[in-house]
Amino acid sequence: MLSALDWYRAAGVDVAVGDEPVDRFAASAVAPPKRAAPLPGPAPMPVPATPLVTDPAETRAIAAAAQTLEELRAAMDAYDGCSLKHRATQLCFADGNPAAEIMLVGEGPGEQEDREGKPFVGRAGQLLDKMLAAIGLDRTKVYIANMVPWRPPGNRNPTPEELALCAPFLHRQVELVAPKLLVTLGNVPTQALFSTGQGITRMRGQWKTLTINSWSGPALPTLHPAFLLRTPGAKAQAWKDMLALKQAIVKEKNGTA
Ligand code: URA
Repeated sequence: MLSALDWYRAAGVDVAVGDEPVDRFAASAVAPPKRAAPLPGPAPMPVPATPLVTDPAETRAIAAAAQTLEELRAAMDAYDGCSLKHRATQLCFADGNPAAEIMLVGEGPGEQEDREGKPFVGRAGQLLDKMLAAIGLDRTKVYIANMVPWRPPGNRNPTPEELALCAPFLHRQVELVAPKLLVTLGNVPTQALFSTGQGITRMRGQWKTLTINSWSGPALPTLHPAFLLRTPGAKAQAWKDMLALKQAIVKEKNGTA
């Protein structure tokens, strides 16, 4: 039973459709009456008090009204319109230093991030910490957030609709943190923030000026640490990107950017 549950969880099944289990084997073993009565089915899905709003205009308005990161976090926590939230354990808002000059943007929380409510605390996060340490950075010197702040079930990619709905929240974080440099980690944030269909392998390592609402600044796409865990041979490319980031930090400090 435990391994069956584990298998369901790995496959992304994390919501029960009814409060009581239904034994379909027992039900089908009973000979049907002449005129078959309906078999017991799953309890109907609870109808949300208000239908889910999937219009990014709503999240844009909510995000724009937040004047501080704390207000934004509270507004996101109170927002019920994204279906991801209903499957997630909690909001995974951000980690690091809100006054940092470097902001990193990932894709979305995984299992451990969902449990702890903090981005990049799982295996990929540990590798990210090592990559940052290699160029003299740690979480006191960077601010980290994700494109979607609630875990997509089974660690699937967020859908375009989920990304569009949650993007205003991330955009507002960028405005409020106002980093000097921004780094996108992997395909999803790179394609979403640069509004491009180009893949990360073509985009990585190239600084481009990015404009997000009132914020504008240099942004560097690089490979996602989860990809590097699966593809260690790509670490050399990520290392080049880290060196490019280090160089940009030094230029910023010397006022030669
Ligand atoms: N991958 C991401 O993109 N973000 C996290 O927070 C963790 C893993």
